[in-house]
Amino acid sequence: MSDDKSNMVTCTAPVNIAVIKYWGKRNEGLILPINSSLSVTLHQDQLKTTTTVATDRSFEEDRIWLNGKEEDISHPRLQSCLREIRRLARKRRNDCHHGFDVAGLSHKVHICSINNFPTAAGLASSAAGFACLVYTLARVFGVEGELSAIARQGSGSACRSMYGGFVQWIQGERDDGKDSLAQQVEPESHWPELRILVLVVSADRKPIGSTSGMQTSVHTSALLKHRAECVVPKRMGDMIEAVCQKDFTTFAELTMKDSNQFHATCLDTYPPIFYLNSVSQQIINVVHRYNNHYGETRVAYTFDAGPNAVIFTLEQHVPEFVQVVQHFFPSEINGGKFIKGLPVDDANLSEGLKQDVGLEPMPNRISYVISTKAGPGPCVVEDHSQHLLGSDGMPKKIL
Ligand code: DP6
Repeated sequence: MSDDKSNMVTCTAPVNIAVIKYWGKRNEGLILPINSSLSVTLHQDQLKTTTTVATDRSFEEDRIWLNGKEEDISHPRLQSCLREIRRLARKRRNDCHHGFDVAGLSHKVHICSINNFPTAAGLASSAAGFACLVYTLARVFGVEGELSAIARQGSGSACRSMYGGFVQWIQGERDDGKDSLAQQVEPESHWPELRILVLVVSADRKPIGSTSGMQTSVHTSALLKHRAECVVPKRMGDMIEAVCQKDFTTFAELTMKDSNQFHATCLDTYPPIFYLNSVSQQIINVVHRYNNHYGETRVAYTFDAGPNAVIFTLEQHVPEFVQVVQHFFPSEINGGKFIKGLPVDDANLSEGLKQDVGLEPMPNRISYVISTKAGPGPCVVEDHSQHLLGSDGMPKKIL
């Protein structure tokens, strides 16, 4: 590679978890949704993708390595993101009258990307992955401004990972998708007491992917159509209001209802899709019985296209609720280290609480819990020693 350091950039991007779910497209190619959605961006200290992009005149073709393994760059969604960024870079060069030269616009790229969490954990990595890819490519090619519409073309939910905090994806109306964009509702600093626990459920098989699952739902589920047209529009307004007011009770109840309705549309799909397993159902029961015990909504669950639960609660309830999880889902799977991420204090469970939850413990069905909070959007890594590609443009050996 030539010595010009500016042709290599490394960035990180976060995972997001939807509290109003996106499920169903009106345009498969452009990835335009049938309803708006809203998510919380998770903190990158616990969950993130890191991507390095390099351009060099010596590169013979575009190449990509994901978690240490070379993948096929011809994937249509990767191609959409590359094409759109290069198009914007070319536009910027042509619009510039003072001889601005976009670094390596005619050069091929090498892309190397890793996650700081195991893919086997079944946590959606495509949102963080495409957000990181688009953000890093934009830096390399000097593209600025609105990038969520490009990330959206990698994976729908990726557009929401372009911002930190609380983010809505506005479905838009145009056929070209130019108004189908992500927008920050509130930054991550807005609600510092909010905590998120990812309950990693041990699964024996890989569930059906979101892309094909939602396709079947769009074609067969009348409930999905009703949801998109009659339920989500009002729910989006109510959820934004709850987030702005930091009204946990409303936020939590809408989150649980929306997760339940999403899974109901999966059951209404023909043939039906089952993402929740017996452990997920048990988690749902534990949450409702816990809330009932206190006579208030202290904890909420949400589930995506798999059995893992994401729990929202407030800081003050974390130690006790984690203890509840540990009691009803005792685990030796992760060498006894049940909690990862933000430290959690010990707590005692009262007999009354245990009795009110009153379920049979399910040993070794939750592998571990990741304790986290809302976090910022994509960032540039300034420390060049963190690049994932070496000076030869190939993945570093440590990967
Ligand atoms: C259940 O964004 O993974 O997580 O656009 O086909 O790539 P594609 O689907 P994807 O779907 C995410 C579905 C979900 C809900 C959500 O994140 O809103």
